[in-house]
Amino acid sequence: MAAEHVPLQAIDHIEFFVGNAFQAAHFYRTMFGFNIIAHSGLTTGRQGQSSYLVEQGKIRFLLTSALSPDCPVARHCALHGDGVHSVAFRVEDVEATINAVKANGATVVKPMATWQDGFGELRFAAIRTYGDTVHTFIDRSDYKGIFAPKYVPIESIKTESAGLLAVDHVVGNVELGAMRYWADFYARVLGFTQLAHFSDDDISTEYTALMSKVMQSDNGLIKFPINEPAEGKKKSQIEEYLDFYNGPGVQHIAMATGNIIETVKRLQGAGIEFLYVPDTYYETLASRVGEIKEDFDELRKWGILVDRDEDGYLLQIFTKPVEDRPTMFYEIIQRKGSRGFGVGNFKALFVSIEEEQRKRGTL
Ligand code: FE2
Repeated sequence: MAAEHVPLQAIDHIEFFVGNAFQAAHFYRTMFGFNIIAHSGLTTGRQGQSSYLVEQGKIRFLLTSALSPDCPVARHCALHGDGVHSVAFRVEDVEATINAVKANGATVVKPMATWQDGFGELRFAAIRTYGDTVHTFIDRSDYKGIFAPKYVPIESIKTESAGLLAVDHVVGNVELGAMRYWADFYARVLGFTQLAHFSDDDISTEYTALMSKVMQSDNGLIKFPINEPAEGKKKSQIEEYLDFYNGPGVQHIAMATGNIIETVKRLQGAGIEFLYVPDTYYETLASRVGEIKEDFDELRKWGILVDRDEDGYLLQIFTKPVEDRPTMFYEIIQRKGSRGFGVGNFKALFVSIEEEQRKRGTL
């Protein structure tokens, strides 16, 4: 029998399995302006794995790598390259949450466990979602430590913030035909509702097409678009992702900023590479989005995209993949009323992504 949905409070953190957590932490620090705030590994009494926690605004990324080849983290990296292992949610009651999601059909990969130390106790559990990705539920209301037991604070020199405030949305790529299943999964298991649907008519170019459903949590704070490839003339970027990631997984994470021009300046200055936007995009922009506060020339200079809907507008920009494989990338987004995802930009963007695919020889 279906159980009542237990509300999710917010994204607590996102955990990546990476080849070298120590170096990844420095990448996020130097390139994206995150502070490295905690570490767990051999010197803190932990066996087998090493983790670094990096933070900016409300965004927390946990970077974890294996210390031996038989560790599941090593297998994840061998299969997928660096990528997202878990999107963790803060909940009020882990036991009630895991019982409810189980009754609603979730597969539990980590039954509820309690970790304790001198700072209190932390309860967590995890279920599987698409591919090898999981959702962890965490209750840290009785825990006063830095992050979790066996984590110690790192006193590193504070870096200059890039103005990133929070995770806006997390997008998953799933196989052809699986989008509806996973959209239903988020509705059935976590009580999400469908915010939007984009068909391949909305999102197609001469070569590639995809479909997308946007699922959102009860409180509107957690948004998960789910993409699947659609038939195109050539290999779509979603298929390219699925090939290189060896299955479904997180395609991009959108991080919100209060001033996208300042953020992009900071990121480009650090060496982040963004997708190229054809000049033709800006020729029609003013007529498409009408009056906006930002200067069009400034947006063109930095390659920032704009889209408008009935609620307002949004500004966004996409990085190139941040791993050796053409898999996960980031979006920087500033919302000015719009609650959309920039569907009006998809086409301009895909032409640019296809140009990158062509360079990789995968189109
Ligand atoms: Fe996005």
